[in-house]
Amino acid sequence: MCGIFGCITMNGNASPIIHASLKRLEYRGYDSVGIATINNGEVAIKKDQGKIDEVHELINLDDMQGNVGIGHTRWATHGAPLKENAHPHVDCTGQIVVVHNGIIENYTELKTELENQNHKFVSKTDTEVIPHLIEETLKKNPTSNVTEAVVETIKRLSGSYALAVISSKEPNKIICARSESPLVIGIGEDATYCASDLTAFLPMTNKAVMINDGELVTLTPNNVEIRRIQDGAEVTRAPTTISWTPEMAVKQGYPHFMIKEIHEQPGILRNTLRAQEHYLDLLSTFLDRATEVFFVACGTSYHACLAASYMFSKLAFLPTYPVYASEFVEQHGKSVNIDSTILAVSQSGETADTLGAVTCSQQRAATILGLTNTVGSTLTRVSRVYIGQQSGPEIGVAATKTFTSQLSVLAQLALKLSTKRGKVSQDEMDYLADRLEALPETVQEIILKQEENVKKLAHKYKDAKIFFFLGRGINTATAYEGRLKLMEIAYVPAIAFPAGESKHGPISLIEPGFPVVFICPRDGQTHKTLVGNIQEMKARGASIISIIEEGDEEIKSMSDDYIEVPKGIPEVLSPIPFVIPLQLLAYYMAVEKGLNPDTPRNLAKSVTVK
Ligand code: M6R
Repeated sequence: MCGIFGCITMNGNASPIIHASLKRLEYRGYDSVGIATINNGEVAIKKDQGKIDEVHELINLDDMQGNVGIGHTRWATHGAPLKENAHPHVDCTGQIVVVHNGIIENYTELKTELENQNHKFVSKTDTEVIPHLIEETLKKNPTSNVTEAVVETIKRLSGSYALAVISSKEPNKIICARSESPLVIGIGEDATYCASDLTAFLPMTNKAVMINDGELVTLTPNNVEIRRIQDGAEVTRAPTTISWTPEMAVKQGYPHFMIKEIHEQPGILRNTLRAQEHYLDLLSTFLDRATEVFFVACGTSYHACLAASYMFSKLAFLPTYPVYASEFVEQHGKSVNIDSTILAVSQSGETADTLGAVTCSQQRAATILGLTNTVGSTLTRVSRVYIGQQSGPEIGVAATKTFTSQLSVLAQLALKLSTKRGKVSQDEMDYLADRLEALPETVQEIILKQEENVKKLAHKYKDAKIFFFLGRGINTATAYEGRLKLMEIAYVPAIAFPAGESKHGPISLIEPGFPVVFICPRDGQTHKTLVGNIQEMKARGASIISIIEEGDEEIKSMSDDYIEVPKGIPEVLSPIPFVIPLQLLAYYMAVEKGLNPDTPRNLAKSVTVK
């Protein structure tokens, strides 16, 4: 989730405008930054790794000449956060310059093809194939203009992109295009802009044109032309006048980052489904060979690990041990050895407890694998192999989109290992792969249909002094996560157990009106026993709140309140959709109590002390 920006002015230099606008986009990514301008028919580029202010201090991003330019602030997905991977990227001649947000899925094939045509690559990014493809297209069709070459290039890309292109061959325009990644155009008095979101240009203009998937835009200082990529047809779209304040704009109109990030999940899951095949393959090979596998993490990442242990057991017949990182050294520090494999999961990649467990394991010659949202973090540096979860920066302290994307990568990994080991029938694999692909839509539907219902639920239970969360099997992890969200954001004490454990003690807490949330997927073996657990609670006067599949009349009839998710979710993937109502519940409970869910007391986004 990077930020792109482009600007073409009638008078004056573009670079200070681009620099200031990238600062406003910095929340989208901040591991490296770069700007390109065209002046007197020459391309100039400044870029480096580091935060925008650090890079500016070193190389002054404001003194570049030229009225046309593009810029980028990066959140690394392909390639570490190094200068050579920072955008903009150029073709072999240095005349075609591109910034990109998104993921080009077929970049390895394209790169090989281009390398065979003698194109030289300097970065590890997927983006770099774009300027080379444009160059190659122009080489093959010398009568084409840059716009036509961009169109032909785009037709060869699969994946997601918002991109902006400038070229010294045609210096008075910016060409940009969108597929799945956001792109918006700003129309000022004496300039036009393109950006990942309108926060970037809001101080200059409040006239914006939203660009749809499959559209290509050509900007000149006083004109914006939109065309459909497929057939070249011109699109007429009047600008919208934006009334957001800059603060509202950063949150895209949402009152808090947490709810914005909950809403981002369908898009993020789509990104995550593009998890790099190559890394899935490598990681699954290590897991396949391992004698013992520990999943090590804290907080929400630990819950992802707990769910993953069920996935690996059910799909790949691989036993794994999820361990709280803060306990790892005490519990396994002496026994971990050269035959142990540690998969450390950490959104930030900087959590001290997780890194502590990794260091201890490394000293004992164990193999370290990593799953993180932060390429370039300590975890990526100490891992033998790591995979990025592609969630983009998460600003709310509560992990939401990063949890579902971790689960998505772990499910893909379990499926990959399962294929390798030939443990599950092809039909079942195809079915699961299909359902996994459908999850972004499923999650979208839950948010659309259930947000209002969850809001009402939060209002009804806003004064509850305590909550119970119960699930069975893989949804024990979902129950734990629902509890953690409610506690950390809404400060409601909550208890979570595997539902079968409640009668071994916790049920004694139940008295009339005690809210108990049950997570009830329909698929799998747990449904029948859950019905029994609900009855036990109901008999003692608990208020039953169930998360059920549409049409689950049996549990619906036993529930005081219920939230429905779409039918047909395989149990092994169910934590992803079933956690959404619980995230919303925590959020709206906090709002009901007048709390700011983005900044819960006593917590930090990244816990770098033990
Ligand atoms: O960055 P990490 O995934 O390593 O962070 C782990 C926990 O600190 C984190 O999940 C924490 O529990 C969040 N507050 C959960 O919302």
